[in-house]
Amino acid sequence: MTGNGVVLIPCDTILNREHAEFIERHHIPLDLLELEKLPHHTTNESLISKATEEIKEIFHYMRRKGTVPLEEVQRSIIPTIHQAAEYPTLYSVLSGLQAKDDYTYRHNIGVGVISTMIGKWLKLSEADLGLLTIAATLHDVGKIRIDDHILNKPGKYTNEEYAIMKQHTVFGYEIICNTPGIDRQVALAALQHHEREDGKGYPEGIQGSDISYFGKIVAVADVFHAMTSKRVYKDASPFYQVMQQMISDSFGKLNPVICSVFVQRMMEMSVGSEVTLTDGRIGRILMVHPGDPVNPSVLVGDEYIDLRKNHHLHIDRLNQ
Ligand SMILES: [Fe+2]
Repeated sequence: MTGNGVVLIPCDTILNREHAEFIERHHIPLDLLELEKLPHHTTNESLISKATEEIKEIFHYMRRKGTVPLEEVQRSIIPTIHQAAEYPTLYSVLSGLQAKDDYTYRHNIGVGVISTMIGKWLKLSEADLGLLTIAATLHDVGKIRIDDHILNKPGKYTNEEYAIMKQHTVFGYEIICNTPGIDRQVALAALQHHEREDGKGYPEGIQGSDISYFGKIVAVADVFHAMTSKRVYKDASPFYQVMQQMISDSFGKLNPVICSVFVQRMMEMSVGSEVTLTDGRIGRILMVHPGDPVNPSVLVGDEYIDLRKNHHLHIDRLNQ
């Protein structure tokens, strides 16, 4: 933070090379900052790959037995996900979590990591955070009962196929409830992560306060991960467009508090990133404003542009 209270780089950020260049360019005295030896980006990527392999094994077990091997989940995957969520960078969230193969497995891990990050930002207790990670990592477990030809269909679903697909929420709930000793919140997250605040979600079409807290958190992480993922039938949406879409989804679809904390923190993680503006100019995100995180201030050459005051100018994309 500068002397006049402007947040340049959010607290707890692990500084990468871009941040270092940013600090140097803006002559920020380094003695004010605590520098740690930086983990390389691939650290997070390899953690995600490890957790993906582990969840694959666990899903195979569940397909055979119909229950969750809870001890195995707690022993193997949960610590890996907590480690991956420890020092997230925008790069690791956007590329480390993306589907390269095995989308269903990677998606569960991705939503597990993102939900854990959200849980920390919402300051959940350690016990609740542990439960949330399990709930998020198992949220789509019901898909093990959906036929592969529907699950991996590279195109739009027919109405009939979509009705079958929606059943994964109920199947997940049943599998988790079949497991002795598992917390009911875990089962509710599987059942309710496609419910929406306005009652237009599924499977039950319940509204607002009837949806469990974990169900709401997992919904935000699920929407983000699905939109930023490349699939056979769609390209990944650009990060900035996803952030804007999530702001508009926070009116009626997603929980507004959880969604705004998520967008604010993700945008703060983008401080220092290179962006292309809608007029083609290239700049760097300098500062994210609380209350209007999708319109940050950007430095283009020597010009400081506050996008809140330039209604015709927006970020077109984040350059990686
Ligand atoms: Fe789902």
